[in-house]
Order: sequence, then structure tokens, then C-alpha cells
Amino acid sequence: MKTVMKTLHVDLGTRSYPIYIGRGLLNDPELIDPFIKGKTAVTVTNTTVAPLYLDKVHQLIPEITNTDILLPDGEKYKTFETLGQIYTEMLEARCDRKTTLLALGGGVVGDVAGYAAASYQRGINFIQIPTTLLSMVDSSVGGKTGVNHPLGKNMVGAFHQPQCVIIDTETLNTLDDRQLSAGIAEIIKYGYINDLDFIDWLDENMDKLLKRDPEALAYAIHRSCQHKADIVAADEKETGQRALLNLGHTFGHAIETGMGYGVWLHGEAISAGMVMAAELSKEHGWIDEADVNSIRELLKKANLPIEPPKEILAEQFNDLMSIDKKVQDGVLHLVLMNSLGESIISNDFDPDLLQKVLSRAV
Ligand code: NAD
Ligand code: GLY
Repeated sequence: MKTVMKTLHVDLGTRSYPIYIGRGLLNDPELIDPFIKGKTAVTVTNTTVAPLYLDKVHQLIPEITNTDILLPDGEKYKTFETLGQIYTEMLEARCDRKTTLLALGGGVVGDVAGYAAASYQRGINFIQIPTTLLSMVDSSVGGKTGVNHPLGKNMVGAFHQPQCVIIDTETLNTLDDRQLSAGIAEIIKYGYINDLDFIDWLDENMDKLLKRDPEALAYAIHRSCQHKADIVAADEKETGQRALLNLGHTFGHAIETGMGYGVWLHGEAISAGMVMAAELSKEHGWIDEADVNSIRELLKKANLPIEPPKEILAEQFNDLMSIDKKVQDGVLHLVLMNSLGESIISNDFDPDLLQKVLSRAV
């Protein structure tokens, strides 16, 4: 049964859309109905999420002719091949330009299915139904879609905004603890970008989040989505401040690619990456050792890693970081901390200090 629902809006003119957050929203067909324009839908999910929630999605759209597409589960399947599977099954089902794609799952499903929606017959409508904490607070909002390339994370994709985002927080009941913590990493990220009060709240309420207290989770999801919606509304295509959302990501993506996709979870890599960004900021004198330690403590409290894997050598790190979407005209830009709770996008860092941080870390 549906309980309290909160609604946020991503304001993008004609491409604006709502984010619905609440418990039991997957029991409410009226919510999704206005966003399905044609008579057909395709629901893209994976083999883990399908047995848990696919029936609920079917019940949401009883009048719609729906085709299910089940992807293999895992970051290592966020590939061109999986994209090809989606196109093929959509063509076999005679999906057309009025078909609505429903992306049911975590960030991997959302990103690859979103890119299929962006490109199938040059673009069709899609709806994000995120089922991991990470996808609820980050990947389902903002329209970044895409796949990994063996040489770099998320290197091929498109901006394609969904029609709406439906966050049923009850789906978190089946998520394992490691994945929950990975989602908390992205929540913590918003605090260090520009919301130190949120960091204080997270510090006080971390136990509740880890114990899946529904109110604490709903609050953290809502506040995170508000941050994301604001930044995306201001800079949809990342010409400026949206890059702040990549705090920890240049280091983190290097960890994910260097270790092999899926070995480190995205949120885990971002956690270690945030500490590396903090250490580099400290080397410049922008924050102090106590600040870095407070970041480490909060991430540790969330059961997240605070050091990169030793398997990646400094040299490899440099190589991996040079394939980053924040490299412009050959110059690497990093998200660093100007002070605690105020991140900046900078190419004005000392490369020697970066090397110092890398060689100390790995
Ligand atoms: P994921 O999609 O791999 O999901 C994690 C695991 O949880 C998977 O095994 C999945 O099958 C399972 N799962 C999903 N929902 C479940 C549920 N309710 N109960 C039980 N199991 C469930 O990982 P993720 O952390 O959700 O997403 C990571 C991906 O998101 C990365 O590829 C990352 O690059 C991407 N991402 C994209 C953006 C963006 O803006 N597009 C932002 C952040 C991250
Ligand atoms: N997760 C980074 C972004 O959406 O821009």
C-alpha cells in the first residue's frame, strides 16, 4: 500500500520531469500512467531484479502491451554487446517511436537502458525505476546514459532525460549491505560538494541508514535528489558546475577500470577517490589533516574503503586518469576541495603533488 510520497522536480523547460519518492510506489499505477504515451512498453531489467520486482511493474501497466528484456547482471555487462541485445529484442518486438522504455534496476540497467532509449530509432521516451540506493540518489536523475569501453568508464553515451523517476524505497529491503554502503558513498559526496550540514546529519544518522531506518533513508534520498536536481537544472550538459558531481570520480573511475569492471563497486571506488581528492587538496593547503581524517572517519562509518587498491601502480593510475571526460584540450581537471564542504573544479593543481598523493596511496 502506498504511504507518504514526496515529489521533486528537475526543471529543464520542456524536458522537465518529476522525481517521486516514497514507500510502495510500485503499487500505484496512477503514478506512471500519464508518462506512458503510446500503447506499448519495453521493460529492461536484469536477471537479479526481475524475480524481485518485474511482476510489480507488469501490474503497473495492465493496459499496455509490454515486452520484457532481461540483461545479465553486473558492471561488466555495461557494454556495446548488451546494448545490441536491447536493440535486437526491441526490433523483434516491433517497438516503435511511441514505445516507452522502463528501466528497472540499479545504475547499470539505468545507464545502458537509458542509452538504448536515447538511440533506438533516434530516441524514445523512458522512465527510470531505480532499485539500488546509488541509482535512487544519483544515476536515475539527470539523464546521463551510456556504456563502458574497455579503455574507460562511461566513455560512450548520451544525455537523454527520463519522463519521470519513480523511487520506491521499499525495494531497498532486498539490497545487500555492501550495495547499500556503495549508495551511501554518493550521498556523502553531495555533502562534501557543498552541504556541510548534511555531513553533520549523516554523521549523526549513519547507524540509522545502515539499519535501513525508513525515515532516515527517505530523508537522505530526498536531500540527495534535491542536490542532483538543482545542479542538473543549472548545467544539464556539464559545461560547468555539473562536473562537481564527479567528486572522487577521476580517481574512482581509474580504480574501476584498472581493477576490471565490477571488482570494486562504483560507490566503493568513489569513496577511496574522495579521500584521494581530499589528500591532494590538503597537499595544496586548502584543507587540513583533521579535515581529511574527518572524511575518512565518516566513510569508514559507512563501511566504505578509504584507500585505493594496491594492485594499481602510480604509473597506471596516471594513464587511466588521462582518459577522463574532464580532460579538456589534453588538460586534466579534477574536483578538489577548496575548503571542507566546498568543492571546486580545478586544473590549477600542482602535478608534482598529484604524483606525491598517487605514490603514497598505491
Ligand atoms: P548495479 O546496477 O550493478 O546494481 C548493484 C547490484 O544490485 C546488482 O547486482 C543488481 O542486480 C542488484 N540489485 C539492484 N536492485 C536490487 C534490489 N532492490 N534488491 C537486490 N538486488 C538489487 O550498481 P549501482 O550501484 O546501482 O549502479 C552503478 C552504476 O551506475 C555504475 O555503472 C556507474 O557508472 C553508474 N552511475 C551512473 C550515474 C549517472 O549519472 N548516469 C551516476 C552514478 C553512477
Ligand atoms: N553522476 C554524475 C552526474 O550525473 O553528472
